Amino acid sequence: MKDLDTHLEALRTARAIAADDADWADFARRARAHAPRLRALLSTLYGGRSDFETQYADVLATAADAWRARPEELKGLDAARERDPRWLQSNGMLGGIAYVDRFAGTLEGLRTRVPYLKELGLTYLHLMPLFKCPEDNSDGGYAVSTYREVNPALGTMDQLRALAGDLRREGISLCVDFIFNHTSDQHEWARRALAGDPAHRDFYLIMPRAEADRYDRNLREIFPDQHPGAFTPMSRWPGAVAAPDEWVWTTFNSFQWDLNYANPAVFRAMATEMLFLANVGVDVLRMDAVAFIWKRLGTVCENLPEAHLLIQAFNALCRIAAPGLVFKSEAIVHPNDVVKYIRPDECQISYNPLLMALLWNSLATREVRLLRQAMGSRFVIPPDCSWVNYVRCHDDIGWTFSDEDAAALGVNGYDHRRFLNQFYTGRFEGGFALGVPFQENPKTGDCRISGMCASLAGLEQALDTPGPWGQALTDMAVRRILLIHGVILSFGGVPLIYLGDEIGQLNDHGYLADPHKAGDSRWVHRPRMDWEAAARRHETGTIEARLFEGLSALIALRKAQPCFSGSGDLRGVDTGSDHVLGFVRYHDTGPLLVLANFSDTVREIDAEVLRAQGLMYPVLDLVDGSTPDLGGGITLAPYQLRWLRPA
Ligand code: GLC
Ligand code: GLC
Repeated sequence: MKDLDTHLEALRTARAIAADDADWADFARRARAHAPRLRALLSTLYGGRSDFETQYADVLATAADAWRARPEELKGLDAARERDPRWLQSNGMLGGIAYVDRFAGTLEGLRTRVPYLKELGLTYLHLMPLFKCPEDNSDGGYAVSTYREVNPALGTMDQLRALAGDLRREGISLCVDFIFNHTSDQHEWARRALAGDPAHRDFYLIMPRAEADRYDRNLREIFPDQHPGAFTPMSRWPGAVAAPDEWVWTTFNSFQWDLNYANPAVFRAMATEMLFLANVGVDVLRMDAVAFIWKRLGTVCENLPEAHLLIQAFNALCRIAAPGLVFKSEAIVHPNDVVKYIRPDECQISYNPLLMALLWNSLATREVRLLRQAMGSRFVIPPDCSWVNYVRCHDDIGWTFSDEDAAALGVNGYDHRRFLNQFYTGRFEGGFALGVPFQENPKTGDCRISGMCASLAGLEQALDTPGPWGQALTDMAVRRILLIHGVILSFGGVPLIYLGDEIGQLNDHGYLADPHKAGDSRWVHRPRMDWEAAARRHETGTIEARLFEGLSALIALRKAQPCFSGSGDLRGVDTGSDHVLGFVRYHDTGPLLVLANFSDTVREIDAEVLRAQGLMYPVLDLVDGSTPDLGGGITLAPYQLRWLRPA
């Protein structure tokens, strides 16, 4: 085994870099700090192969070339972020999600919308997949044909680079997806595999039906509406050079081919793409579908230990060649498994699907018991890491709470999920939600929910209801929307707004007219941004203004309160009511108690609850500016949110 210095010397001389080159010295320093870990990880995954040394040397070479190509401005940012790994935890941080085409038409169009993003206070923008992809159906861009080209309908790579720079100068970090579990069937690697090239067939998981059956026995069906099991017959592609009974692994849609990470060439190829994106100026990579990236026969092929090692290897490589880059985990799985991806050396930040699901659960049940229980144990993560807290995103809502947690409260998980699905698809008498079922699976009884925040929170139903009753329902819906956003704004970490929700955009059933989308109800919550509605955001009395201004006020308060920085450092508080969520955040400025009434009736909280948190009279409610008299306790109106601090 050649030692690291020998490797580095060989790399330097091959590139004719002077021995005293300062930039190279910087690279060598990083390599010495992180390459041993990278090597150990790769050796656990691939060490048994005879070509391991060559594979490892190639990975290091990839890192060296990426570092050399990294723009100076980004290297400056790298240094700043290394000094301050908690930059994402600032109370100034606020994220937004948008589809380029639906939000602004094109990348150029998006540049003209930057003032809107700033008005809302965004410092982080997740642009949904914007790479070249199949034209008819691409799973909303999640089938990538190449990372080197932007979808021509949206713009060019140079425009993306320019936009990243613009956003950076405006204080907005750019997040894009790294869809590394699969490529589209039109990716060059897949085309070569279809042409029978053995090296590229080995990039994917192509196998005889009998073998696929052995895997399928243990797999969960992710998109049962698209195809049963996890495989698609190769015969589906006309002219494919494959044996008649061969199938390819496609966890999601048939046109999304899972990559074979047991092959180190796949790791290196994707690592090269990752570092390319880093150098375009991306700050955060949303690591798509992390749970699925490693497969082993006889297992469910989700959350395997190797999946973690693989992400850690990608992470170690970033520490060498693009140290400012942050990984966001997209693991929408059991809460025990979600947290395993969150580590400084794996994914530094992660979606918080449990909080999301439990916020909706609390609205449906008007009770916070499951959420209060989760508060006690489920949200603890390492100090340099952050949750990304959201109420809606482009995907469905899955009820990913743990059955054991539910059972501890006397709730049967299976039945309760059925109730939630009934409730959110509008089939529950007296309910307020108008969602749509997603991937209802009659075999398992499983079902998830699609829908825009406003439609799920009752606004659509309210607007369909005439007269004063409709007005009352509207009022409740607006309160619900502000309440759950208020919770994610007080939770620490990175709050993430699904753009369109800030003005209460409703479900859009237009997707049903498009045969490529009709089978995927998630399109119901991917409407075009309604800029005419957005223009009403300051017209007093409009729904848009009530939501946008209500939200803006909370955002401004959050930005002014250092106690909202940090991540997991909040503590659940028993409010004595099953309807009122309570948690406290600490800072030098004293405690801040968050109270959130998830019911549609007035609730009283005993003054003792406040005193136990060190809140004596006088207290100030930051949200409405009042100094409530604590004499007989404190009152919360329906869906009221209070942020209480010593006055
Ligand atoms: C992730 C995305 C989802 C997509 C899937 C396959 O879960 O969020 O939209 O369908 O990955 O890429
Ligand atoms: C992946 C995600 C899950 C989502 C699906 C796409 O399975 O983990 O959240 O439901 O992709 O909808």
